[in-house]
Amino acid sequence: MKMIHLTDTHFVPKGETLYGGDPRQTLMRCVEDINRQHGDADLCVITGDLTHWGEPEAFESLQESLAPLRPPLQLLIGNHDKREEFLRWFPQQTVDKSGFVQGVRDFAPGRFLFLDTVQEGTPAGWYCETRQAWLAERLEDVGDRPVYLFMHHPPFRIGLEPLDRISLRQKEAFAAVVHPHRAKIKHLFFGHIHRPLSGNWLGISFSTLRAINHQCWLDFTNKDAIAGSFEPPAYAVVLFEDDRLIVHTHDFLDASVKFSLADSPVKDWAVRQAHP
Ligand SMILES: [Fe+2]
Repeated sequence: MKMIHLTDTHFVPKGETLYGGDPRQTLMRCVEDINRQHGDADLCVITGDLTHWGEPEAFESLQESLAPLRPPLQLLIGNHDKREEFLRWFPQQTVDKSGFVQGVRDFAPGRFLFLDTVQEGTPAGWYCETRQAWLAERLEDVGDRPVYLFMHHPPFRIGLEPLDRISLRQKEAFAAVVHPHRAKIKHLFFGHIHRPLSGNWLGISFSTLRAINHQCWLDFTNKDAIAGSFEPPAYAVVLFEDDRLIVHTHDFLDASVKFSLADSPVKDWAVRQAHP
């Protein structure tokens, strides 16, 4: 199975910009690149913050921009989105019986669980007892099959204070739900961080990546506001194999010279010495 992961598209109404960037233009370039290289992917997941302010015009622009995408689409919402507005524009997306944007889909590698960590009125992640009960049931139902989790907010601190202040609030409760099932949870995908990050939590590998419009600069000295940047956007190509999960990240706007390593675009002495 092949899956595309992208995150935090932060759409604004068509024709508007955000911090000087145009998320629509960037996403359209991203969709073109995905269709050209990965039109055969089995799924494309966007892990939330689909829009920046949640207006209908922003969701409309996102819907238009995603229409040409070839792989099937799965959307999560993030703290910048408005749940009801999202469902008006993407009514085919999965919703649980309590109205949260949560769902279950089975694929060859295992069961994919898509979680809703949004509480309107706070940028922090929220996973209430109703949602915790939903997740606990889903993890129980699956038996011994492998599970892959998708959510907007990371359920743990990452060591960057301004971002940790808006991570999931119910960290201990969430970990308590996941912990008994950790052996079958093969990977956790999330967004919200706007920068590449991977590691391991409770024995579960995780990854996220840069966003579409703007990024968070890696600044450990800044304890106050989140530092922004215009590092390049990326999408991830995730390959599920029997004995491994591979996550490639692709800076699809990179404009540097591409060349064969059997040759060199710069005929300098050092290269010739290294490869006589
Ligand atoms: Fe975001």
